[in-house]
Amino acid sequence: MSHNRTIQADKSSVRDASCLEVWPKTAETYSQLISNQSQDSHYLRLRGLKPNLLRMIGDCSEKRLLDIGCSNGWLLDEVKPCEGYSCDIVGQPDIQSKWKFQVQDIRSLSYLDNFFDVTVASLVLIWFEELDLAIKQMYRVTKPGGKAVIAMVHPYFYRVGNADDNSNFLISKDLSKPFKIQNLKIGGVAGPLTYFYRPFTDYLNTCIRTGFRINQVLDWFIDMEDYAQNTKNGMNSNITRSGKVPMYSFIECLKE
Ligand SMILES: C[S@@+](CC[C@H](N)C(=O)[O-])C[C@H]1O[C@@H](n2cnc3c(N)ncnc32)[C@H](O)[C@@H]1O
Repeated sequence: MSHNRTIQADKSSVRDASCLEVWPKTAETYSQLISNQSQDSHYLRLRGLKPNLLRMIGDCSEKRLLDIGCSNGWLLDEVKPCEGYSCDIVGQPDIQSKWKFQVQDIRSLSYLDNFFDVTVASLVLIWFEELDLAIKQMYRVTKPGGKAVIAMVHPYFYRVGNADDNSNFLISKDLSKPFKIQNLKIGGVAGPLTYFYRPFTDYLNTCIRTGFRINQVLDWFIDMEDYAQNTKNGMNSNITRSGKVPMYSFIECLKE
């Protein structure tokens, strides 16, 4: 790959600065939250997010992987790629130096074109307006023959309604078009953040329009029996959960 083929992203097209303002203030609390094994979010990540994400990423022992919005860097520690790169809009002093961390915004990455075998954005695309810029950057830095993997809390579940005691889910927002939720706190503590809701099809169509072929989409639902068994000892959540709506979604996009 030749270095002069790098297209520096146009930072001036990044309009929404809310994530740049709030995440630096939230990063430490978020990092503590995801390491706290007494929260039910730990169970959800352990049973839902991690295994599905890792399966979709696959074996990277001979691959170059970029984890965008990496937070404390848990993903590279788990995947152990041959060559691991990580970035976030917030500095991450605790990341192992072998995972080549840089402060970067997914909407204006400065990595070379066609550089990574695998590009990952886990729980990142929901924090800003310009989804199209982010997906274009993921596409640009992914090699032909490589893939991008996106994980999200499913847009039709996250903060758009409430589960009742019978695990029914009452939707309280108009899900037909994008909207913002201000002052959101993850796990009731990390925030306040601005969450950008958009219909799930917007994610899929943006990937397709950018040039990706969608190879696989996966929804993960909470198994409420397992949840009840494994979260009763001291795990407290102020959110009533439901197994009837998807909790996490995963999209595997191929660059051909
Ligand atoms: C909910 S955390 C997810 C962290 C990690 N990927 C995971 O799955 O646990 C969101 C992360 O995305 C980062 N982030 C938010 N907006 C971003 C952007 N525009 N570009 C890069 N990272 C961003 C935040 O700083 C934060 O570390």
